[in-house]
Amino acid sequence: MKAVRLLEYGGRLVFNDVPTPTIARDEILVKVRSTAVNHLDLVEASGTARQILPIDLPWIPGHEFSGVVEQIGSDVAAWAPGDAVFGTTTGMGAYAEYLAVKAAAIANKPSKLSFEEAASVPVASQTAWEGIFAHGHLEKGQSILIHGGAGAVGAYAVQLASHAGATVIATASTDDEAYLKSIGASRVIDYRKAQFEKVLREKVDVVFNLIRGDTQKRSFLVLKEGGYLVSATQPVSEEESAMHHVSGVMMRLAPTGEGLGRIGRLLEEGTIRPDVATVYALEDVAQAWKDIARNLPGVHGMSPSEHEGARRKSHGKIVLRVA
Ligand SMILES: NC(=O)c1ccc[n+]([C@@H]2O[C@H](COP(=O)([O-])OP(=O)(O)OC[C@H]3O[C@@H](n4cnc5c(N)ncnc54)[C@H](OP(=O)(O)O)[C@@H]3O)[C@@H](O)[C@H]2O)c1
Repeated sequence: MKAVRLLEYGGRLVFNDVPTPTIARDEILVKVRSTAVNHLDLVEASGTARQILPIDLPWIPGHEFSGVVEQIGSDVAAWAPGDAVFGTTTGMGAYAEYLAVKAAAIANKPSKLSFEEAASVPVASQTAWEGIFAHGHLEKGQSILIHGGAGAVGAYAVQLASHAGATVIATASTDDEAYLKSIGASRVIDYRKAQFEKVLREKVDVVFNLIRGDTQKRSFLVLKEGGYLVSATQPVSEEESAMHHVSGVMMRLAPTGEGLGRIGRLLEEGTIRPDVATVYALEDVAQAWKDIARNLPGVHGMSPSEHEGARRKSHGKIVLRVA
């Protein structure tokens, strides 16, 4: 099969033939139709976080996919060849024509979504769900501040929080204000023009932080006592959390097929919607990585000058079409 592989940390990606995976009794072979690019792919490939995020080289990147079940292991009862599915990877990556996954990692692809749209959903939507509900304990009638609301994860967080009956405030660029209001934000603060802690008059119950830098530290100032600061990007200071009488947690996504199935139903009924920024062919992965790297200067050899010209629509996922 064709696949994209990284042969050494910090190296370039190669697109060529590799053996098609064989499946264990409890696994499913999926013919991948699309996969999506995540910041994590580049961070892992760079080797900068190899102590906490080790990879086996040569490595096929890709944490999420959509596709069709090709073959099932003898112990698999819940799925059959021909089923359209989407999910997260459990071992090898999804930048490939075929993928072996555990049954518990997949869900039925919502029929109204294209394979490209479906591949964009699993990581961002489940990060949002876990961040705001499992860790942030957000409830109807509460308020939430989402930093990076127009990003891939942020857009799901805005939609899910709004659907849950919370008041949603998001930080983003002015360009993204109309988009964020169309998906449920009641207020958008332009992070380039205003400091959220200076313009917010009322404190919030939950902050969900999707941005690196001092945004997180400043967020303590806008949290109610007893509130939750959930970060997807950096550790939350225990000391400062205690000082401000809030709970702080850095989350790490723990995706499940069951959780994805729940999100799939919301997508199917049109309660939330996916957003795809760009679709590339799998062999054009290098360009896709350059596009996403504009928010990750220095990672995997990307310099600001290299990706300045590739400013993409600032919301939605970058998807790779595999078949
Ligand atoms: N812990 C986990 O389990 C987990 C899981 C998934 C993702 N993540 C992390 O979560 C983060 C977000 O991921 P993503 O896929 O949503 O990224 P993304 O699609 O690149 O979105 C980032 C968004 O943040 C905006 N932004 C940049 N600086 C900002 C600031 N100072 N204030 C407010 N908004 C700002 C960007 O808009 P502009 O156009 O204005 O730059 C963009 O819309 C990444 O760091 C990713 O690695 C963590």
